[in-house]
Amino acid sequence: MTVTEARTTVLPTIAFLGAGSMAGAILNGLLSPVVSVAGGIRVTSRTAQKAATFADVASVTAYATEIDADANRAAVRGAKLVVLAVKPHLVAEVLAEVAADLEPDAVVVSVAAGVTVETMEAAVPASVAVVRTMPNTPAQVGRGVTGVSAGTRASDDDVALVRALFETVGAVIEVPESQLDALSTISGSGPAYVFLLIEELTKTAVAKGFAAEQAKLLVEQTFLGASELLAATGEDPAELRRRVTSPKGTTEKAIEVLQAARLSAVFDRATDAALARARELARPAG
Ligand SMILES: NC(=O)c1ccc[n+]([C@@H]2O[C@H](COP(=O)([O-])OP(=O)(O)OC[C@H]3O[C@@H](n4cnc5c(N)ncnc54)[C@H](OP(=O)(O)O)[C@@H]3O)[C@@H](O)[C@H]2O)c1
Repeated sequence: MTVTEARTTVLPTIAFLGAGSMAGAILNGLLSPVVSVAGGIRVTSRTAQKAATFADVASVTAYATEIDADANRAAVRGAKLVVLAVKPHLVAEVLAEVAADLEPDAVVVSVAAGVTVETMEAAVPASVAVVRTMPNTPAQVGRGVTGVSAGTRASDDDVALVRALFETVGAVIEVPESQLDALSTISGSGPAYVFLLIEELTKTAVAKGFAAEQAKLLVEQTFLGASELLAATGEDPAELRRRVTSPKGTTEKAIEVLQAARLSAVFDRATDAALARARELARPAG
């Protein structure tokens, strides 16, 4: 008989600077019963109101900068992993604030869009490693995909720790930093593309005479069902599409129209626009 035990992920002390949607998604993963954060989790926010939302979470110590000017510094002292989860324009300010209090072997993990490894490495002591990442919002339900790029000072062990952190909320893919903005246009923004498709097909269902509730059920269940089918069978999506598309049938006619709209060219243009904007945002203001 084989006994299969759930594997426990053990992580060192973690500090989250910023407690918004992205930090909350990752925290959800860390609070799973198969994850153990040895030295506990520290979380900082701007408002006391946000910090108070963690009052009932035993393994989390929450600090708010509006009532404790030392909040971010207190959170990083003794933390091996420091997750920067503030808005991108605040990253430099928050790093400058905590730099002197970071542990010499700390790993700073940024989820901030567009802030480069070079900028962050310049803002922290030379012994501190930096890893830049790009998660996405399905991390909230453990179905995220996170791109991870090692900074110049990050060891294999540092990257392995960051990988273990994000694997608590989904899949992880390692890419060079030069590819991270492109990855963001696919998986970072990707959930928005899927939601847009759902919105548009729902409008079409309503136009075909279905009540709003019926349209919602038909479309949302179709997206969920198709995704689950893809995951469960491991088949190529093109093959699964062929299986719904009988020769000379009705789906074939619909697919012909969709293909004539050159969806691939539309996606190329959409992701190019996102990439151009990422480059614009990365340019120093002035
Ligand atoms: N949301 C996404 O889809 C997504 C995807 C990938 C990456 N990201 C990245 O994740 C980062 C956070 O985004 P978000 O959507 O989670 O933003 P958010 O919900 O606005 O959260 C930002 C958090 O930062 C806190 N904060 C503000 N100033 C602070 C300070 N000086 N010190 C400590 N905490 C401070 C805020 O506190 P209060 O709550 O008290 O205001 C809030 O909890 C961004 O850099 C973004 O690029 C987001």
